[in-house]
Order: sequence, then C-alpha cells, then structure tokens
Amino acid sequence: MKIAILGTGMVGQTLAVALAAKGHEVMMGTRDVAKSLASTEPNGYGMPSFGVWHKDHNSVRVGTFSDAAAFGEVLVNASSGGVSLEMLNQAKAGSVGNKVLIDVANDLDFSKGMPPMSRSNDVAGAGLAEKIQTAYPNLRVVKTLNTMSAFVMVNPSLVSSGDSTVFMSGNDADAKKTVQSILQSFGWKDIMDLGDITSSRAVEMLMPVWLRAWGVMGQTPFNFKIAR
Ligand SMILES: NC(=O)c1ccc[n+]([C@@H]2O[C@H](COP(=O)([O-])OP(=O)(O)OC[C@H]3O[C@@H](n4cnc5c(N)ncnc54)[C@H](OP(=O)(O)O)[C@@H]3O)[C@@H](O)[C@H]2O)c1
Repeated sequence: MKIAILGTGMVGQTLAVALAAKGHEVMMGTRDVAKSLASTEPNGYGMPSFGVWHKDHNSVRVGTFSDAAAFGEVLVNASSGGVSLEMLNQAKAGSVGNKVLIDVANDLDFSKGMPPMSRSNDVAGAGLAEKIQTAYPNLRVVKTLNTMSAFVMVNPSLVSSGDSTVFMSGNDADAKKTVQSILQSFGWKDIMDLGDITSSRAVEMLMPVWLRAWGVMGQTPFNFKIAR
C-alpha cells in the first residue's frame, strides 16, 4: 500500500521504518523538503535530525505535505497536534478524496512547562481528531496509537510480551478495518474499538495520565491495558 506520513519527527520516522519494513511504499511530508533534508541539529529528544536520519533511510520518499497527501492511499497525521489543522491545509487535504487518515497526534500545550497539558481536556473545547473530521469531512479519520511512545506503537512486544491495549476510534467501518490490519501487522492483539470519532477525545484526554506515568517510568516502555 502507498502510505503518506505527514510529519518528520520521531513518530514519523519510527512509523516510516516500520511500514517500509512491512513492504509498504512510504512518502514522508514536510514543509520545506530541501531544508528538512539539510537539517543537522538533533531534535528535542537528542535524536538525529531528519536530514541525518534520512541519509540512512533514503528509500523513504520525501515530499511536501501536499505531495505526500496526493501520493498516499492511506495518510498518517504525525504532526505536532497544535498545528495539525494548519498542516492538513498545507497538505490540501480537502482535495484528496475519501482517504483514510490515521491520526496519532496529541494537541499538547507546553506553554506552562513540563509536563504539558492536553488541549483536548479543555471542557469547552473539542478533541483534535474530532476537529480534523469536522474540518475535512471527505477524510475517513481513525484515531489510534496516540496513547503510547513511538517505539511501542510499532513494537507492542516491548510491553508485557505484547499484552497491552491500543484504542481505535472512527466513523467509517472500512477505514477501521484498514487500520486494524496495519495494527495487526505491527503485532497488536488487543485492539479496542471504542466507537465513533467522538470517542477519540477520551483517548486524547488520557495524555495527562500518560505524561505523569512517563515522568515515573522514564525510558522503560509502558502502556495502558484494559484488564478483564
Ligand atoms: N513522541 C512520541 O513518542 C509520541 C507518542 C504518541 C503521540 N505523539 C504525537 O505524534 C505527533 C508527532 O510527534 P513527533 O514528536 O514525531 O513530532 P512533532 O515535533 O510533534 O511534529 C513534527 C512535525 O510537525 C510539523 N510542523 C511543525 N510546525 C508546523 C507548522 N506550523 N505547519 C505545518 N507543520 C508543522 C513539522 O514539519 P516539518 O517537517 O516541516 O518540520 C514536523 O513534520 C505529535 O502530535 C505527538 O504529540 C508522539
């Protein structure tokens, strides 16, 4: 399948490697291709810049956000949540038809320092995936994978021998089947379909818990599990 990853950060990089390894054709989207490929400064997590990373992964195509959105049969929103709507505008997402958009982003507010708060928890607001679905009714938005680190997203066996939970929310049953098969290809077994896109806000609202747990767990991989 042709998959467009809209975002070049650690999530985009991790998903690109995992999806390419499964045989998908991957194109990553960025604002300025030349600038991103020339970047050398490590990112905020001390990981190599996109330019340095791409030298080792040059089979992954790179284009503008709109090149990538036109290329992919399935799109992944791996942009910073506070700019995701702006990024999708740059991607001309309103004119790409009814493609599946896998939304893994979180809309975090770092203005008061660490840990950030989630704007999805604002009582008067709406969730990010809901805002995306409302702004782009042509897209079939499926929220998933936002409740774990990038490394766990593509390798669930890092936690409890693979026995943890990934949530999925979206309005379109076929889109969820497509996403489910991608999740299964990563090794996910406990995939919990929470319902339509309104349920995505609930998983976005888990972020304050995840971020506090991260403060306790540090680099140890962890995840949520719905025990039954
Ligand atoms: N880090 C994790 O383990 C983790 C886990 C779960 C969910 N998430 C979520 O996954 C998403 C990606 O996280 P990340 O750490 O990989 O990357 P990030 O730093 O949050 O986002 C990087 C991307 O955002 C784009 N961007 C920034 N400002 C922009 C603007 N004004 N207009 C358009 N695009 C803009 C960048 O474009 P350029 O390529 O042009 O620079 C880049 O591609 C986030 O929403 C994050 O909350 C992260």
